Amino acid sequence: MHRSFFSLPTFYRPSRRILPRMSSSVANKDRSKIIAPASRLAEGRALTPDVWSIYNVANLPADCINLGQGYMNFPPPKWVTEAAEQALNNVMANHYSHPKGRLRLREAIKTYYGPQLQRDLNAETEILVTSGANEGQYSVWTAFLEHNDEVILFEPFFDQYLPSVVFNGGKPVYVPLHPPKGSGKSTSNDWTIDNDELRRAVTPRTKMIVVNTPHNPVGKVFTRKELEAIAAVAEQFNLIVMSDEVYDQLVFDGKEHVRIATLPGMWDRTVTVGSAGKAFAATGWRVGWLIGPQSLIQPTLAASTRIVFCSNSPLQEAVAAGLEQVVQRNFFQIQRDEYAERRQILIDCFDQLGLPYTNPEGGYFILLDVSRVQIPDDYPFPESLQGRGFDFKAGWFLALEVGVSSIPVSEFYCPEHSKIGENFLRFAFCKDADTLRRAAERLQNVKRYIK
Ligand SMILES: Cc1ncc(COP(=O)(O)O)c(C=O)c1O
Repeated sequence: MHRSFFSLPTFYRPSRRILPRMSSSVANKDRSKIIAPASRLAEGRALTPDVWSIYNVANLPADCINLGQGYMNFPPPKWVTEAAEQALNNVMANHYSHPKGRLRLREAIKTYYGPQLQRDLNAETEILVTSGANEGQYSVWTAFLEHNDEVILFEPFFDQYLPSVVFNGGKPVYVPLHPPKGSGKSTSNDWTIDNDELRRAVTPRTKMIVVNTPHNPVGKVFTRKELEAIAAVAEQFNLIVMSDEVYDQLVFDGKEHVRIATLPGMWDRTVTVGSAGKAFAATGWRVGWLIGPQSLIQPTLAASTRIVFCSNSPLQEAVAAGLEQVVQRNFFQIQRDEYAERRQILIDCFDQLGLPYTNPEGGYFILLDVSRVQIPDDYPFPESLQGRGFDFKAGWFLALEVGVSSIPVSEFYCPEHSKIGENFLRFAFCKDADTLRRAAERLQNVKRYIK
């Protein structure tokens, strides 16, 4: 068996008598590695120190402003947390919900999303509440992947996809989005798919394409034309489309958010993924959902039931209360405007710096091109950055010297394509305006290091 990270210790000898008859030489050995984990952990990149542990706040100066991780530093809306408190005081809401999700939440999802998907959704068979979008996606892969089935991911990709596909026996196949050419101003729309490259990635083992719109980390909101091209490939080769739309409420500048499930023929092969964490600034609540045809949702329900059984009950009630009120409160529009202001703070900052960046049309990340940042040759980097790309070093350097942390984008590529991401750092603007202004002020110090 392939064991790239953990090899069996040389003194490992399976024996029925190990414990009672353990010799003193065995007892004195380091016993911390006698049990090797399954190889899928290494194959799913779960054992290499990931970007989150390298850039963990604990490794950075205490006063570093964290624009690395994509969670908000502000609370969910008061009327939603009040609904959570009420739910905690309701006995039944503290217990297992139906594995499909609490009926109130499924009804709220039906009412809110039905018109957007242009369907009268069936809350019994076409909606599944999950433990965050992550678990929902994992369950889709459990339900549909046979060993070695291939899943096409556009790079840069949300890093959780890779382990989730691999743990379910699948094989990720990567198709890069191509960054804007030139050093002028660009928007996320300038990151493009090469349709021929996409077609070439399809093999007889391809089972699924994952589309993420609005996209993390690029902020790209896929156009109708781009989605039609993807849909044509899915239709031609009979593929499932997983449409990860967790940032659907964060689309700016009047750009249209097209749901691929609404394109002709696509409902039958698309599962649309949503997240209350993004919609209501509650990433730790772990409430998400899947919407799709019965043929995709029912096998996923069977998998999800055997993985988590059901999701967090009281917070499902709170999310239901949230979705029930968003229209009347105009909540998503107000939230979108607030995010647009937050985005503007970083855009103004990067304009003043004079470094190129990608203006995101959606989501809450901005990519800054740091290829002109000059790092002193003898700058000391921790061992965890050995062998990592320029962006890992630039991110570390800026965190320590300027006091703002970000995330290196090459992490979201396979090793063969990681060079494409190496010029970029990802800055999250899901933070309050004061924090962003303080970060913007500090980031002006990057000027000292620009070539
Ligand atoms: C593109 C994308 N999909 C899915 C998720 C996971 O969402 P959740 O927190 O609901 O599991 C994230 C979270 O960052 C994301 O960026």
